Amino acid sequence: MTDPDSIDPVLEATGSVPNGPGEPPAEDAAHHPEALLRVNDVRKVYGSGHTEVVAVSDATMAVDQGEFVALLGPSGSGKTTLISIIGGLLAPTSGTVHVGNADVGNMTRKQLTAFRAERVGFVFQSANLVPFLTARENLLFVSSLVKGISKKQAQQRADELLAELGLADRAKNLPEQLSGGERQRVAIGRALMNDPDLVLVDEPTAALDTAMGRQVVEMLRREVKSRGKTGIMVTHDLRMVEYTDRVFEILDGHLTHVEQPSALGH
Ligand SMILES: Nc1ncnc2c1ncn2[C@@H]1O[C@H](COP(=O)(O)OP(=O)(O)OP(=O)(O)O)[C@@H](O)[C@H]1O
Ligand SMILES: [Mg+2]
Repeated sequence: MTDPDSIDPVLEATGSVPNGPGEPPAEDAAHHPEALLRVNDVRKVYGSGHTEVVAVSDATMAVDQGEFVALLGPSGSGKTTLISIIGGLLAPTSGTVHVGNADVGNMTRKQLTAFRAERVGFVFQSANLVPFLTARENLLFVSSLVKGISKKQAQQRADELLAELGLADRAKNLPEQLSGGERQRVAIGRALMNDPDLVLVDEPTAALDTAMGRQVVEMLRREVKSRGKTGIMVTHDLRMVEYTDRVFEILDGHLTHVEQPSALGH
């Protein structure tokens, strides 16, 4: 994304507080004042004048701890934009995002950097691995951005995740020596490394066959449930919806909560 509002995605090491400023909780987001994630009236407009694009127009949602939800919608409907705003990678034009007591839009740059490194696990639509680091080093790198994790703990966690993702024998490969699906799985491992509160995954199964896709989504669900995370998965694949607790749909930037995803027809 080249939007001037986009926030530098390079994570810098920082020692600032993980939980952000301690403001009072936001007003009710979709009548879930206690939810871990509360998105209120988020709007995002790219560009201006005749090039203006309203990517997200009125998103309000609340997702609890331990909930794994799907975000569906056709290409260009605003999915990546919305989860980038939720994860503190992109500033909304208006509206608010709260994660616990932290107001994502009201953090200093330093707080935002710490928030993204410590509390958010983001799997980008393209895997975005560091090209000169091996699969294992890509995982270890993100834990080096957070204080208080010993090298030994990090190595153990990286090896567990790589094994769980079926990548134990690929740990020493560079990204260019991995298949697209393997790269995507490394990116999922990297997102889970720091035990984040929020797990945001953009099309995790696009490069995977059905069996591997199911395995990866089952693993994401397990992580969310067993470690009490809040998970949002963008997907085009209706078969993956069965692993989620609830489904949101976004159409031309309008977000709705749907009961019958099979009726969506895309
Ligand atoms: N940096 C940008 N500048 C201008 N317009 C943008 C920018 N990023 C996205 N858009 C536009 O905003 C709209 C929403 O884009 P977004 O990437 O959020 O869609 P998406 O639902 O993730 O699509 P896909 O399924 O293809 O990944 C699209 O019309 C897109 O062209
Ligand atoms: Mg997208």
